[in-house]
Amino acid sequence: MLTTQTAETVSRLRCINCGDMPHSAGRDFRCTTCGDLLEFFFPDWISGAPADPSTDPSTLKSLWLKRRASREALDQSGVWRFRELLPHIPAEDAITLREGNTPLYDMPRCARSVGVEHLLAKHQGMNPTASFKDTGMTFAASSAHQGGFRWVACASTGNTSASMAAYAARGNMHSLVLIPDGKISWGKLSQSLDYGALTCQLRTDFDGCVGILNELVRQKPVYLLNSVNPYRIEGQKTAAIELMEQLAWEPPDHIIVPGGNLGNSSAIGKALLEMRDLKLISRLPKLSIIQAHGANPFYRSVREFGGKKIEPMTADTLATAIRIGNPASWKKALRVLQATGGEVEEVSEVEMAIAKAEIGADGIGCEPASAVTLAGLKKLRRKGFVKSGDSVVLILTGHLLKDPDFTIKFHRGDLFAGTSGESEAAAAKYLQRAPIILDADLAAVIAALEAAERGS
Ligand code: F0G
Repeated sequence: MLTTQTAETVSRLRCINCGDMPHSAGRDFRCTTCGDLLEFFFPDWISGAPADPSTDPSTLKSLWLKRRASREALDQSGVWRFRELLPHIPAEDAITLREGNTPLYDMPRCARSVGVEHLLAKHQGMNPTASFKDTGMTFAASSAHQGGFRWVACASTGNTSASMAAYAARGNMHSLVLIPDGKISWGKLSQSLDYGALTCQLRTDFDGCVGILNELVRQKPVYLLNSVNPYRIEGQKTAAIELMEQLAWEPPDHIIVPGGNLGNSSAIGKALLEMRDLKLISRLPKLSIIQAHGANPFYRSVREFGGKKIEPMTADTLATAIRIGNPASWKKALRVLQATGGEVEEVSEVEMAIAKAEIGADGIGCEPASAVTLAGLKKLRRKGFVKSGDSVVLILTGHLLKDPDFTIKFHRGDLFAGTSGESEAAAAKYLQRAPIILDADLAAVIAALEAAERGS
């Protein structure tokens, strides 16, 4: 077992807008001077600072690899394994479900359909609560534990709440979930119930839930676990570090992520920039962000206003995870989009549903919000932003079983019935595999098999 101890990482909080550096964060994690978001930065890593032996690239890479063989819980976590690149939280406060360590799959059928040679998917839905949220939650819930909080809370479209409820339970904390009434999948709702959260379904949308939560944390000693909490972003960074390790530290040309509240894209981009500064990688992949057309405030901000402002909207999409009209982290996401030279794209409901079935047909599967990545990649490929020889990694954020309703309706051909997408959805027919109801009769099953064989 490896016992190498590196120096504790020195981190500071800083406002992304005015640069103020508070010693600690208020309950809403906003700058007390200008009200914008805070982020962690690491003064010792700034380019030009004297070389620090604790961040020597080859030492870190071999340390992280060796931890894979360790029996220690923190070394087995795909988040805490990279703790040299995270702010310091004492081990006794760490709450881990061995998150991270998610697979990187090749996607041969999807690659052919898009027209790229090298297409991979990092499946963050293979985390303990089946979404990428666990990587940020292990870290932020641990910081709540360190702060001695009895209650943690979040507003959510379902995945953050499922994850928070699980980590709170593991850390002996109470959790309060605010989710929109309706427009949330049963899979996600059932998780927070089982993990023991106090679950409130508010008669509003996600953005309305955020408003109530912000007021609540001002009045009650409740620890906020939405992605405005910079500890969440730090934990979520590790997906990009793990990805680079899986690629032998050879960055792909493109990384493509879905965009909702924009915490995940901000986190992955932050990790890429930091890894470049630390010389863990020698060049930056382009990080592109894809939104659903009905929930596209960031897309419109970049395309219509050059990223100078964002206009909140009433969001509507079947991908309930990203049904968000006023994304909190849009400035952070804009910064990484610009720094990496990525693109922003929007996709229709039908494009997303087709892409989801194509990902499924590669034997992988994901929830609807994750599938905007493949649908967006097709558009970026058509526009020539992604070339056929480029290497591309899609970040799949949630598991197929998070939202089985969507999948069943799609395969039965009901998903777009009576909607404006109905005629566009005819193009999806060849992907639909509705279940066939038969008598319990061998001949009927053989007939179905032979019909399928003739059709394939
Ligand atoms: N994909 C899935 C499956 C999600 O659950 C979310 C966000 C996103 C993508 C977008 O990530 O917000 O960081 O841009 N879900 C949140 C929730 C908002 O409450 O579970 P983002």
